[in-house]
Amino acid sequence: MNRINEEAENKPQLKLEFEIKEKDFNVAGEAASKVKKTLQQLGLTPEAVRNIAIVIYEAVMNVVIHATCGQLKVIIIPERVTVLTEDKGIGISNIELAMKEGYSTATHEIREMGFGAGMGLPNIKQCSHKLNIKSQVGVGTVLEAIIYLPSKDEKG
Ligand SMILES: Nc1ncnc2c1ncn2[C@@H]1O[C@H](COP(=O)(O)OP(=O)(O)OP(=O)(O)O)[C@@H](O)[C@H]1O
Ligand SMILES: [Mg+2]
Repeated sequence: MNRINEEAENKPQLKLEFEIKEKDFNVAGEAASKVKKTLQQLGLTPEAVRNIAIVIYEAVMNVVIHATCGQLKVIIIPERVTVLTEDKGIGISNIELAMKEGYSTATHEIREMGFGAGMGLPNIKQCSHKLNIKSQVGVGTVLEAIIYLPSKDEKG
């Protein structure tokens, strides 16, 4: 894999894509561990790998729990990793409120399964450097989180 090409225009990139099907409670864990493996092979720091895996898990889980179906894309370039989920679903009417620790609209049934603490989005925010959420009620949600990677000299 060519990761050494530093040319600004045409940066080498690796893109991993996953389909998120309705009620697939396993896809979040599966995608997180598959990406984790790839990132470890690419030599990312354990901290970056851990943060990216958390972001993927929480973002995909939200699609499964709160939306209907969607897609996960993970785009890796030498400077950063972008985690992108796009879903079809009810959307988020108040994103600021949704970002609050402890806020959740999860049903009793979902809470019984151990989800719905209202900590997923705050966790994503904490584990990423940039977070952008766009949502249209009744249509769906796009979440983009960026994790910057330390350069080789900074890894130490
Ligand atoms: N993709 C989404 N589509 C629709 N609503 C969403 C989506 N993601 C989050 N939300 C809304 O934002 C709220 C907060 O999300 P967050 O991930 O912080 O908590 P949670 O999923 O309810 O619980 P936890 O993540 O702790 O299991 C959700 O309860 C839901 O109302
Ligand atoms: Mg959540």
